[in-house]
Amino acid sequence: MLSRSEDHPGRSLAFVIFGGTGDLTHRKLLPALYNLMTEQLLPADYIVYCIGRREKNDSIYRAEAAESIRKHSRSSIDDSCLNSFLNHVHYHRLEFRRDETGYDSLYNRLNTELTDFEKPVAKLFFLAVAPEYFSVVIAHLHAHKLIEKGNPDHRVMVEKPFGSDLASARELNDGIIEVLAESQIFRIDHYLGKEMIQNIMAIRFGNSLFEPLWNHYYIDNIQITSTEKLGVESRGGYYEQVGILKDMLQNHLLQMLAIIAMEPPVDLSAESVRDEKVKVLRTLRFINSDLAGSGIIAGQYAAGNIDGRPVLPYRAEENVDFESNTLTYVALKAAIDNFRWGGVPIYIRAGKRLDRQRTQIVIEFKRLPGISFYEEFKTQSPNLLVIEVQPAEGMYFQINSKRPGNEFAMERIELNYCQNCRFQGNVPEAYERLILEAFRGNSSLFTRWDELEHSWTFIEGIEKLLLEKPVTLPNYAAGSRGPETADELIEADGRHWWEIDIDNGIS
Ligand code: BG6
Repeated sequence: MLSRSEDHPGRSLAFVIFGGTGDLTHRKLLPALYNLMTEQLLPADYIVYCIGRREKNDSIYRAEAAESIRKHSRSSIDDSCLNSFLNHVHYHRLEFRRDETGYDSLYNRLNTELTDFEKPVAKLFFLAVAPEYFSVVIAHLHAHKLIEKGNPDHRVMVEKPFGSDLASARELNDGIIEVLAESQIFRIDHYLGKEMIQNIMAIRFGNSLFEPLWNHYYIDNIQITSTEKLGVESRGGYYEQVGILKDMLQNHLLQMLAIIAMEPPVDLSAESVRDEKVKVLRTLRFINSDLAGSGIIAGQYAAGNIDGRPVLPYRAEENVDFESNTLTYVALKAAIDNFRWGGVPIYIRAGKRLDRQRTQIVIEFKRLPGISFYEEFKTQSPNLLVIEVQPAEGMYFQINSKRPGNEFAMERIELNYCQNCRFQGNVPEAYERLILEAFRGNSSLFTRWDELEHSWTFIEGIEKLLLEKPVTLPNYAAGSRGPETADELIEADGRHWWEIDIDNGIS
């Protein structure tokens, strides 16, 4: 999980993007590559090929790339660095579903360019195409000798979603492993590249304070929240296929949970970390609470206001069915059935078009035992460890202390650390980290097949329950906190959702 010490794996780099004219390439991948170059994390010899269907030449593509990098780069642009980067960027026209000659000419172009490279070349193929085309592109790459099974320098990075259910994910995986070894496949969950997600391991295993307490003896519950103000933007067609369960829960939220709850791996190698994450996902259970319905709080946004601006209901978004029952909100209670976590509820909630953007993990420690001679301490707030992934990147630890003064009164104080307040502009974007680690051949920031298999199994169980007891949608206003039943879900257990603003404490 942690970066390996060598910055450079003794390789040159050929980075080939399928979907070179798409949104992801322009918003994330090109700016990420540019920033890697400015930080001297790319080797001296590197080349970037962007594949697209449209007729374009290198200079037109480079002008578009320059505009995107200027707009989306996290660091300010140095014109000479940008020009030098763009000289390494090429456009290659190819209709990736059927253009056999396009693949052959890609092979020839690459071979010609790479002959001048001094070091052996790591070839990374990034598939930023619709998921139904992953196997098509990979099969062509193999047939045209661009990738060879077992060659560690030939790697493929695939975006999520990996499949649309367990069966289709299996089929996709079966197709891929016919032509690639597991170690050549880098399945992306961009949350794993986020600074604070990586920091979870550092916090857990780099402090003697937490590990002894990290279990059901001391922890009362865990809350994982991911709320967004954004709606589905221009991705209505895609979102109709996935909904919140497959867009967020199956991947980002379960990955966060797995890292929070896993046993300490024997070492920090990719396989050891992933072995432990898999064990968590295997033992993950949905807990049916006594609420009416399935115990899963499902929602879809109606019209409302975000930051004082009226917004459309989900059903009126572009490419969305006007009677759609796709979910844009989910809250549920889960448990990890193992010795460490037995009896600790895990509350998860995620939604779009809510009142705030926040991804936060709250570890609530058990309350004091309430000894009668310690009357003042009986009602104290529990200790909380809050890990905020975004928008602030940091952590917050809530403890109780004596209020200064002559009276012996207690008060709650917060020890907080806001990482991106201290390192403004210097925190790498998730895609930078992911590209870099794939280049280094380090798979620990990518999901292994068995992790996905268990995540899909969990999601299928949830979907089945939802089908048995459908809810009436839409059921929350855009800009609200989501369906009120999400509060009832946790309040039924005598708890509540913590809303922590790490700069200002509890809100
Ligand atoms: C993506 C989802 O994987 O993650 C989007 O497809 C979601 O719907 C996004 O908005 C959230 O990512 P981030 O990095 O903005 O929290």
